[in-house]
Amino acid sequence: MGATVNRSPEGLIYLNLGCGSHFHKEWNNLDLFRHEHVEYHDLRQPLPYPADTFAAVYCSHVLEHLTPSQGKSLAQEIYRVLAEGGVVRIVVPDLEEICREYLARLAAAQSEPSEENISRYLWLTLELLDQLVRDKPGGLMAEVLQRRQVDEPFITERCGDEFAAFFNRAGPPESGAQAAQRSWAEKIISKLVSHRAAWQALKSRLKITPDPRRTGEAHRWMYDRLSLRLLLEEAGLVDFAVKKFDDSDIPHWDRYNLDRSLAGHGPRKPDSIYVEGKKPSGVAGLKALAKAKL
Ligand SMILES: C[S@@+](CC[C@H](N)C(=O)[O-])C[C@H]1O[C@@H](n2cnc3c(N)ncnc32)[C@H](O)[C@@H]1O
Repeated sequence: MGATVNRSPEGLIYLNLGCGSHFHKEWNNLDLFRHEHVEYHDLRQPLPYPADTFAAVYCSHVLEHLTPSQGKSLAQEIYRVLAEGGVVRIVVPDLEEICREYLARLAAAQSEPSEENISRYLWLTLELLDQLVRDKPGGLMAEVLQRRQVDEPFITERCGDEFAAFFNRAGPPESGAQAAQRSWAEKIISKLVSHRAAWQALKSRLKITPDPRRTGEAHRWMYDRLSLRLLLEEAGLVDFAVKKFDDSDIPHWDRYNLDRSLAGHGPRKPDSIYVEGKKPSGVAGLKALAKAKL
């Protein structure tokens, strides 16, 4: 582990995997995109830390960006780097809830095909499918949002802070941290091509469209409460629990509030399921590990 490891005021070491622009600076934060307080690491590779290091590992809306086998390897790595008794918290879009909502919206649109019901049904199909199949950044969702022909309150209620920020923003939807997420190649080239319009023209002439699978934007799988339980238990983690956005066994969670909306109340990503597991200690740990390896 490098010299830059961060500790909380209590001396605990925390890890946030695939943090994007959402992190706490007392934590150790990893992503494909470097930023102040964020180190580069590709989660398809082993974690760059020794075993038994972290009091907690948090991983929000990232697992679904990995294939099932990459997800399995990551769960094993999380087990390895957690200290005994350490907590892992995984947050993903809840496949079960999205499917139930999709079926409800389908039924409503079929029985009463009003503009509102059809629009909500179409949004649910996007939630379920678009990020799994898109071949250009933003996919169909971005096209629909750009046209603004959408039910904004409904989408904000379902998808939370990210979309609320999009609807409230007059200019292009990009924060400083999000800008840091553009690819290094694009940043270097755009420095060379100083005039933005010229850069856009060049990009479209060269047909440069970042591949969402390569940049980590695309979804490669989805999870529900059972598949998450199986994933964590197969990696050797115990005490599986489905949590609420503001409830966690991570020490001092109230101070970090990583799943709370920046508006101050309610969840930041309401379409989520939050689950936790623990790395067992002593004999219990060895037994769980032996069982997981069978
Ligand atoms: C939907 S964002 C979630 C960001 C943040 N965790 C949150 O909850 O707001 C997915 C993040 O996973 C990162 N990511 C995707 N694939 C990755 C990989 N192979 N290695 C590291 N980070 C990855 C992306 O760069 C992006 O920041």
